[in-house]
Amino acid sequence: MDSLLIKGGVPLHGEVSVSGAKNAVLPIMAATLLTPEKCVIRHVPDLTDVGFMAKILASLGARVSVDGDTVTVQAAKLKPVGDYELIRKMRGSICILGPLLGRQRQATVSLPGGCIIGTRPIDLHLKGMRDLGASVTVEGGYVNVRARRLIGCDLFLGGRAGPTVLGTANVMMAAVLAEGVTTIESAACEPEVVDLAYFLNKMGAKILGAGSPTITVTGVKQLHGVEHEVIPDRIEAATFAIAAAATDGEVILHGARPDHMHAVLDKLKEAGVKVVRKGLTLTVTRGGRLKPVDVTTLPYSGFPTDVQAQMMVLMALTPGLGIITERIFESRFMHVSELARLGAEIAIEGPSAIVKGGRKLSGAPVMASDLRASAALVIAGLAAQGTTQVNRIYHLDRGYEKIDQKLRGLGARIQRIAQE
Ligand code: EPU
Repeated sequence: MDSLLIKGGVPLHGEVSVSGAKNAVLPIMAATLLTPEKCVIRHVPDLTDVGFMAKILASLGARVSVDGDTVTVQAAKLKPVGDYELIRKMRGSICILGPLLGRQRQATVSLPGGCIIGTRPIDLHLKGMRDLGASVTVEGGYVNVRARRLIGCDLFLGGRAGPTVLGTANVMMAAVLAEGVTTIESAACEPEVVDLAYFLNKMGAKILGAGSPTITVTGVKQLHGVEHEVIPDRIEAATFAIAAAATDGEVILHGARPDHMHAVLDKLKEAGVKVVRKGLTLTVTRGGRLKPVDVTTLPYSGFPTDVQAQMMVLMALTPGLGIITERIFESRFMHVSELARLGAEIAIEGPSAIVKGGRKLSGAPVMASDLRASAALVIAGLAAQGTTQVNRIYHLDRGYEKIDQKLRGLGARIQRIAQE
C-alpha cells in the first residue's frame, strides 16, 4: 500500500484548480442507468471511487469509456445483477439501487457493511422505496428491491441525524420513472443533490425544489441521453483552503464554488483566515493571528462533516481552546489519536472534541483511517516540523484527485512511496 512522505514546515504558495465533486459524480454516474441512451459526463475527477463506479456500471452491462476527465456511459441493455464484490467495496455504490428500481423495477445490491465512520445504515433509502410501492427483502447480505408498479406518494426521509444525502438521491432516481407525483419531505439540500436533480431534469425528468427540504418529482415514461459538467468539489476546495491557512501560505483556488461553501468560509473568517473571493477564484491567507472557534457539523447549509477533520488540524495549530462537535456520524474522530502522534492535544467528550491548540506539531508516522481523516493528517504533516509518513493512503486516492501532485505544485515537499 502506498504512503506519503511529507517534509513539513513549508508554507504552501501558488495556484491550484478544483476538481469535479466526488459526491456529485458518483450518483450522476449511477443515474446514467436510467436511460438506454448515451450520457456524457465532464469534469470527472480521476479517483479510485470513480473507477469503481465505472466498473460497477460495466458489470451491469453498460458501455463505459473514460477519456481524460470525460466519462461516457451507455446502458443500452442492463443485466439484472452486477458484480457484488465491486458493489460491496464502495459505499457510494448504494446509489445504483434507485436507478435500477426505476428502470427495471428490481434491484439487488449487497448491503453496505458498517464502516469506520459509523454504522451507516440504509433504512431511509429502503423506507422511501417501500413508500413508492417496492417490496424489500434482505437475504444473504443482499438487499432485493422489487416493484410491479412504482406509484408516486408523499414520503418523509428525515432520520436520527437529519436528512440523508444518498437516500435522497436514490429515492429521487427511483421516483423519476414512477407513476404520478412524489413529494420527498426532509430531503437533503446538499449541492450534490441539486447537481443530480439538474442532470436528471436535463434527461427529461420533472423535479422541482432540489436544494430545499421539499422535492417534488413528477414521474415521466422515459429519459434520454445528456451531456453534463459536474460541479466543483467544495470539500476539496475547503481542504486546500485549510492547508493554506495551516501552513501560513497563500493559495489561489481556481474553479471553486464559494456559494456552496458559506459555512466553511464563515468559520475560516471567524478563525482569522483571510479569504478573498473573486468570481470562482478564492485567495486564501492567514489574515493575522489564528483564533479558536467552535464548529458543529450539520446537514447542508451547515458546516460539512467532510471538513471536520481538516478543521480540527487548524484548531490544533491555533492557540486557545477550539471545540469541534460531530453531529452527522457517530464515530468520525479516528484522526484524533493519529494527530496526537504529531503532538496535538485533543480530548473527546461525547460528540465533541476539545482541542487545546497551539502545541508545536512535529512529524511522525501516522495511519490514515478514512478519506477525510487522511486529508487532515496530510495537512497536519504539511504544517508540522520534520517528516510525517502517512500510511494507507488508498483512502485519499478514493476522494482527492492527484493530491500529492497538486500539493507539490504549491511547493509542498511531498512524495508518494509505493509499497508492496
Ligand atoms: N442515515 C440513516 N439511515 C439511512 C441513511 C443515513 O440513519 O438510511 C444516517 C447516517 O448514519 C448519518 C446521517 O444519516 O448519521 C447522514 O448520512 P447520509 O445518508 O447523508 O450520508 P451518505 O449519503 O451515505 C454522503 C457522502 C458522505 C458525506 C455524507 C454527509 C457520498 C458518496 N457520500 O454519504 O461523504 O459525509 O453524505 O454529508 O455522497 C466523504 O466524502 O468522505 C463522505 C463520507
